[in-house]
Amino acid sequence: MLKQKVVFQCQGCGHASPKWLGKCPDCGLWNSFVEEIQSAGAAKARRQGRAPEPLRLDSIEQSEAFRLMTGIGEFDRVLGGGMVPGAVTLVGGDPGIGKSTLVLQAMAGLACANSGSGRLLYVSAEESPSQIKLRADRMGLSSPEIFILPATSVEEIIEAADSALPGLIAVDSIQMVHTAEIASAPGSVGQVRESAARLTAYAKKTDIPMLLIGHVTKDGSIAGPKVLEHIVDTVLYFEGDGGRPFRILRTVKNRFGSTHEIGVFTMTGRGLVEVSNPSELFLAEHSLNVPGSVVTASVEGTRPLLIEIQALVSPSGFGNPRRTALGIDTNRGNIILAVLEKRAGLHLSGFDVYLNVVGGIRLDDTAADLAIAIAAASSLRDKPVPPRTMVFGEIGLSGELRAVARADSRLKEAAKLGFETVVMPEGNASGMDDSFGMKIIAPRNVEEALLSIFS
Ligand code: TYD
Ligand code: MG
Repeated sequence: MLKQKVVFQCQGCGHASPKWLGKCPDCGLWNSFVEEIQSAGAAKARRQGRAPEPLRLDSIEQSEAFRLMTGIGEFDRVLGGGMVPGAVTLVGGDPGIGKSTLVLQAMAGLACANSGSGRLLYVSAEESPSQIKLRADRMGLSSPEIFILPATSVEEIIEAADSALPGLIAVDSIQMVHTAEIASAPGSVGQVRESAARLTAYAKKTDIPMLLIGHVTKDGSIAGPKVLEHIVDTVLYFEGDGGRPFRILRTVKNRFGSTHEIGVFTMTGRGLVEVSNPSELFLAEHSLNVPGSVVTASVEGTRPLLIEIQALVSPSGFGNPRRTALGIDTNRGNIILAVLEKRAGLHLSGFDVYLNVVGGIRLDDTAADLAIAIAAASSLRDKPVPPRTMVFGEIGLSGELRAVARADSRLKEAAKLGFETVVMPEGNASGMDDSFGMKIIAPRNVEEALLSIFS
């Protein structure tokens, strides 16, 4: 009998303590400690056997950068060009967002694009096989190569995989899977981490690529703490707001590609459909001649996206004015408003300012700065931005406009969608080869930019 060790583990950050604590000393969460029983012998037993031998780097055989393509372009691109053998990808997202649908479609795509890739094993720990069949029928998917395994134990999954030797394993969801090695309840931090670690070790050993589905908890992290993100190779988040059909697949971590990539889908009655030109989708409801609305070009990963930024500036009641930003970092928004106040003479201190990025997109690209500033100025003055105008550029603290990367791909996207005027930093305009037939305005600072638009 293995000796058992009891530890108390914070469900928020994974901090372990020998006794129960009311408040986690690490992340400050209250009442988050849960008793976890670990078999002390388990880790030791795993370590027994032959001593591992280091390999010379140049003697390691490279299995030719082979990638498994699912044929779903948006999904493959987000992965960095398909799935890598032995790589574990975590697909996280809110319940009901479409994770199971995405994974099932990817498997069907894989079966279709690579006939002979072997069986594809869909481990269902949540739904019954008939529920999955129902979903597959609804999407019109069927493939003799997809196998459904209703199982919740890691040992069962590995045993089934050992006999079926699949070309891919998908586990839906990792929170429902448990291992006999530790005694705590399924879904607890210890169980989720240990199960994911064992499955990952299996994927590495056999070179089978694996997709793990994970639910996001209330505070937005997968499985409570970030514990899973360290274990797997790639972390994708599937996002979208429930009321709208857009879904965005975002890379958070990728050992085999860029982490800025996004894939855009719409949820239809027959599953997810790729959106290969998302700019059109995000601008579909863009209303011309409305104050406070500006279009900018943001580069997400390798692709430029045209996105509408909105600002609403309204007189504040009393006390501190409100500053709210959705899809933009609030601090960044505040800096831009402060620059407008100090360098462009806009008196925003008596006004509440609300900023929003349309379509539920989150912008990290600093090239959106100028659009945020112009949207706020447009709303404050109640003057719309001239139609068919796109703006981009980073704003510095002294109000100067700074050049940003990939200006030509932003211009190209704008020209493709029929924009006629572009306001961009002088630094970008001076090195430009082609304006794609659009009128270019190249101010040096925010004040000049506002003058050029609103005069
Ligand atoms: P699902 O993939 O089960 O979500 P998750 O695994 O992330 O919990 O998808 C759930 C939602 O998607 C459900 O509310 C119904 C909707 N849906 C469609 O609109 N069309 C479809 O073809 C499918 C399969 C699901
Ligand atoms: Mg599901």
